[in-house]
Amino acid sequence: MRILTGSDHGGLSLKLSLSERLRSQGHEVIDVGTDNNASCDYPDYAVLVGAAVAAGEGDFGLLVCGTGQGMAMCANRIRGIRAAVVGDVFTATATRQHNDANVLCLGERVTGASLAAEIVDAFLAATFEGGRHAGRLAKMADLDSK
Ligand code: RB5
Repeated sequence: MRILTGSDHGGLSLKLSLSERLRSQGHEVIDVGTDNNASCDYPDYAVLVGAAVAAGEGDFGLLVCGTGQGMAMCANRIRGIRAAVVGDVFTATATRQHNDANVLCLGERVTGASLAAEIVDAFLAATFEGGRHAGRLAKMADLDSK
């Protein structure tokens, strides 16, 4: 898969380790930054990843900040983005199956590297179930025009 990754300083270390792991699994990873520990603003990276995913330039986005929350709030302002903050494996699977999430948001200050890797694996392995969930996604898409 082609995966866009981004982080602020608060998520840099976890993003780098997850990106390296994804590459070792054979995925193509495009890291939009940040690439150093200097304090920076998570919206700048959320928009880069979200816009690229919404434009079809990648299969999924992976955004990491201190909590995952700020990244998700920003990415979800981009039409077509369904960003989910995930801290457990069940939710990683369910948000793909039910919500067709296309951006995974993680918090480096919340979730350990080992669990984060399991979450990424579960997110990428799961597929949208469609069916009754498709109508709900259509209603979600309608909210873009509100
Ligand atoms: C940066 O200190 C921190 O606020 C940021 O990484 C993130 O947790 C915001 O949601």
